[in-house]
Amino acid sequence: MRLHLYVNQRTLRAVFVFAFSLFCIIGLGYLEPAFGQNDGVTNIFRPLSQPAQEIKETSFLVLVVCAVIFIVVGGLLVYSIVRFRHRAGDEASEPPQVYGSNQIELAWTVMPILIVFVLILVTSRTIADIQNRKPPPGAVQATVVGHQWWWEIRYPELGIVTANELHVPASTVDSRQPTFLKLLSADVAHSFWVPQLAGKTDLIPNRENRMWIEPTKPGTYLGNCAEYCGTQHARMLIRVIVHSPDEFVRWVKDQQQVASEDTSAAAGRKAFLANSCVNCHTIRGTSAQGKFGPDLTHLMSRETLAAGAVPNTADNLRQWVRDPQKAKVGCLMPNMQMTDQEVDQLVAYLQTLK
Ligand code: CUA
Repeated sequence: MRLHLYVNQRTLRAVFVFAFSLFCIIGLGYLEPAFGQNDGVTNIFRPLSQPAQEIKETSFLVLVVCAVIFIVVGGLLVYSIVRFRHRAGDEASEPPQVYGSNQIELAWTVMPILIVFVLILVTSRTIADIQNRKPPPGAVQATVVGHQWWWEIRYPELGIVTANELHVPASTVDSRQPTFLKLLSADVAHSFWVPQLAGKTDLIPNRENRMWIEPTKPGTYLGNCAEYCGTQHARMLIRVIVHSPDEFVRWVKDQQQVASEDTSAAAGRKAFLANSCVNCHTIRGTSAQGKFGPDLTHLMSRETLAAGAVPNTADNLRQWVRDPQKAKVGCLMPNMQMTDQEVDQLVAYLQTLK
């Protein structure tokens, strides 16, 4: 006697396609780092720092356990569907109905509980490990403030303020130098996410969140805001630039200088200080002390403009100053309605801010 099962072929096919796609996506995520040049690729499966490494290990265990369950359950299901499908000539009567089996019911209650319990223990250990980490002496402390739509980065102990680029030293065996971040928001909720370094942590108004990273390999790591925060959420990119310890010391020294006073761009400097630029931007060493916009003291040391929207070139800077709304619709920097000559002078001045 056979079970009369009528499974919609299309449903079955859809389930298979879904499972196969999922398998491919996860598989490719793991394999992708093996191909070609991957520097700057934001791949969660290629962590290059604690705590991203620890998170990957935990997620891998969860994935393996879930994959085994999926294969066992899916296999049994497919076997039953194929083996006991309705065939021509089957009797029309019902197959025998079986009720209750203490062994089977006990097994499928106890086993999932054990599995869930193990996963809870492993996950809590990872979370506790990451959250309870205390800054060792020598750790770099930075404050990251999320703004619509850029990142303000302060190093209170070093007296540095910059934007959109978090510079940190690489941690070495001889000198452990993790960076501890205090996360704040000036307006709405944002989320700091550099996949190769750590998990996401939100920046919430009127709340202080914390996280830390400890990259060991110098290089540039890309990330972005991971919490929808308005029109230009997609153009709120963050770069973490990891220096060798010596190079980091040099970077700190450079950034601690006040703005250079290059007399060749005096006209642009005058234009900057005479316009309302000063209400929003700080240039240390001048009377410009605004706090709403990015600190421009060392603008030319940065790779991008407008939080990663465009590379920091003279042309892009000119377009940006002429009409920020064209480059980044909705951004809070207004069009200052300057003449072409004023724009040129201003850009010439900004370019002296090395
Ligand atoms: Cu800030 Cu999304």
